[in-house]
Amino acid sequence: PPPQKKNAPQPSDPCKGCREIIDKVVARYSQPWKRQEDNYQKFRFQLSSKCHGFNKAIITKTNTPVGSKLVYDGEKKRTLQVTPEIFSTFTKDYPFSNKTWDTCAVVGNGGILTNSSCGKTIDSAQFVIRCNLPPLANGYEKHVGVKTDLVTANPSILLEKYGALMGRRRPFVESLRTYGDSLLLLPAFSFGHNTPVSLRAAYTIEDFESPTRPVFFNPEYLHSLALFWRSQGLKAVRLSTGLIMASLAVELCSNVHLYGFWPFSNHPHGLQPLTNHYYDNRQTKTKFHAMPAEFDLLLRLHSQGILKLHLGDCP
Ligand code: CDP
Repeated sequence: PPPQKKNAPQPSDPCKGCREIIDKVVARYSQPWKRQEDNYQKFRFQLSSKCHGFNKAIITKTNTPVGSKLVYDGEKKRTLQVTPEIFSTFTKDYPFSNKTWDTCAVVGNGGILTNSSCGKTIDSAQFVIRCNLPPLANGYEKHVGVKTDLVTANPSILLEKYGALMGRRRPFVESLRTYGDSLLLLPAFSFGHNTPVSLRAAYTIEDFESPTRPVFFNPEYLHSLALFWRSQGLKAVRLSTGLIMASLAVELCSNVHLYGFWPFSNHPHGLQPLTNHYYDNRQTKTKFHAMPAEFDLLLRLHSQGILKLHLGDCP
């Protein structure tokens, strides 16, 4: 028989060729982690001087008055002039009230969280950020926690799960109960078709007197953040929600912990196959995002002691 190449995938290998990549990542990740204050301050300064997430990430009545021109970050040359009606949906005050948190957890939706027992650790953070209205009940709480201070919602979920809020809206409001009085962050001005459905989400929340607080991403922030990551070598068309939230967290929190970030098909330690999300196996649109490339950048920040990526199970 021909000599077997070292590391060649075995017929029974669950990893089918991913072993080499994962081994390399794990080798980088396994170096002892230590927070590096200098690196953190330097990186945070770069980020905040380019993107100003601290007071620009979210649209408010102060930073976006009636008559301002919003430039959609996902569609070239599309703009929208803020009418009094749209203005009325903007939050009055900046939700982060000029304070930084000591510890933040940013929870990505990766299947690596399945059976991780990380719920309590995640919930112990002062500020918890989640992506795309993820399920938290029915047994997931043990592994992902329940505390939510900010949750994002991609309008595609509103289309698929709640009929674009054109029909009955109660199921949507009920699904928000899990997130209590957290901020619901919507990319209302990224693409033209996001705007009506995002406004309907905000009106629904108001009409049903839900405690959830809808807020909108500032497209100017998303644009400058995309330029920032491009300058760091990222070639993706769009940033993933997780990378956006991790970046914002670096501006808002001294200690940033990332969970559920693992865009590979197998577990870093046991190499067992993983689903793409901890709650389903829907695949990410690789056409737009470059998750492994993004992960590489996050791993770089981890190695520099700027933030901490969690890949293992929790105690
Ligand atoms: O679809 P979208 O990129 O907005 O995100 P998602 O699939 O709902 O997951 C939220 C975030 O978790 C993503 O944006 C990624 O940053 C991260 N993620 C990951 O790192 N690995 C996975 N297998 C799945 C998600």
